[in-house]
Amino acid sequence: MAKKTNQELKALREEHVPRGPFNITPIFVKRAKGAVIEDVEGKEYIDFAGGIGVENVGHCAEQVVGAIKEQAEQFTHTCFHVVMYEPYVELAKRLNEITPGDFPKKTMFVNSGAEAVENAVKIARYATKRPAIIAFQNAFHGRTYMAMTLTSQVKPYKWGFGPFCPEVYRMPYAYCYRCPFGLEYPSCELHCAEYLEQFFVSNVAPDAVAALIVEPVQGEGGFIVPPQGYFKKIKAICEKHGILLIMDEIQAGMGRTGKLFASENFDVIPDIILTGKSIAAGLPLAGITGRAEIMDKPHVGGLGGTYGGNPIACKAGLAVLDTLNEQMLDRSEKLGEKLRKRFMDLQSRYEIIGDVRGLGPMIGMELVRDRQNKEPASEEAGKLVKRCYESGLIILRCGVYHNVIRILMPLVITDDQLEKGFLILEDNLNDIL
Ligand SMILES: Cc1ncc(COP(=O)(O)O)c(C=O)c1O
Repeated sequence: MAKKTNQELKALREEHVPRGPFNITPIFVKRAKGAVIEDVEGKEYIDFAGGIGVENVGHCAEQVVGAIKEQAEQFTHTCFHVVMYEPYVELAKRLNEITPGDFPKKTMFVNSGAEAVENAVKIARYATKRPAIIAFQNAFHGRTYMAMTLTSQVKPYKWGFGPFCPEVYRMPYAYCYRCPFGLEYPSCELHCAEYLEQFFVSNVAPDAVAALIVEPVQGEGGFIVPPQGYFKKIKAICEKHGILLIMDEIQAGMGRTGKLFASENFDVIPDIILTGKSIAAGLPLAGITGRAEIMDKPHVGGLGGTYGGNPIACKAGLAVLDTLNEQMLDRSEKLGEKLRKRFMDLQSRYEIIGDVRGLGPMIGMELVRDRQNKEPASEEAGKLVKRCYESGLIILRCGVYHNVIRILMPLVITDDQLEKGFLILEDNLNDIL
């Protein structure tokens, strides 16, 4: 088969694949390694996107590829419900051990983040016998019906796809740069967390609420980090009312924030924790880990799926956990410090950077046309992403106004690659002004 160019493949894509599944770049990959992607025409790109936060341990990490090959040669699928296999139970055991919370836990696996969210809601409702779920403004939890309902942003995620699932209620989030209450931290005394009690008065009775689902750092919503103390208050209010706390760590987990789990930064222990994306370095896998007594509530046969916890994906997951050792987490923290310094430096020189925020290397900068009125610089952010791609850097944006440049690079990026990426970013920042 003759090798096709990017343009030829794009023509095929346009003819045979609907436009709904979006594309950020017009290229097709030939191979990827570490933090570099090579397209089918041999052009190399520094990767600051990691396939949307999936390649924390780097593209084609040796240990992961080895585990995948080894498993593929033994068996690829029996279905966990038909004939069980060791990688599933081993990975469940590992997650139960390493997730926050010193109590008995159980874990089940599914194929995607959205599916993990769906199952967490099923389990929480079953366990509490309550119908309602509280989610947050700017939240993103996926694209299936319940996950899409829990997702906040209308366009493009929800537009035209309603009606949505009932019994979902939405709280403001701790978005300090654009505080929904017009307050300032710390003089606000975390009013946004206290507000949950008030929320119960006119939105939903607390004893009707099964769970509150929240991202420890909002990802798609704009890399929004709540202030210290926020989750402790939220958790205390949840506990008081028997509401389960579900932490969606699908984007923020697996070393992304310098800690294995983002919740650790806030010293908060969720009842259910969701993992996905980087957990299996690109193989479709997501986990639902929770208190054993909650996870065991649904009846036999009430949970599952044909591919959930596929053996190759679980083997990859085990290799990822081996790779995300102390040394890698240390590297992640140091990378975060470097990135923060660079972004703060850019902010001091470019008016368009209104806010720099993040935890560890999960860091972003919010672009605004005017620092005073904070008008979102959405078009400029779009231009920057496009220009960076044209100059050899793959980078993403996020945020409800699409004006936040975010960093989700593999944690194994070398200093040289980082430098190259930053030069491209700054060059193009100059260009869009
Ligand atoms: C926080 C969060 N939850 C859930 C999801 C959905 O995951 P998936 O795309 O694997 O369904 C995402 C995806 O971006 C996410 O960032």
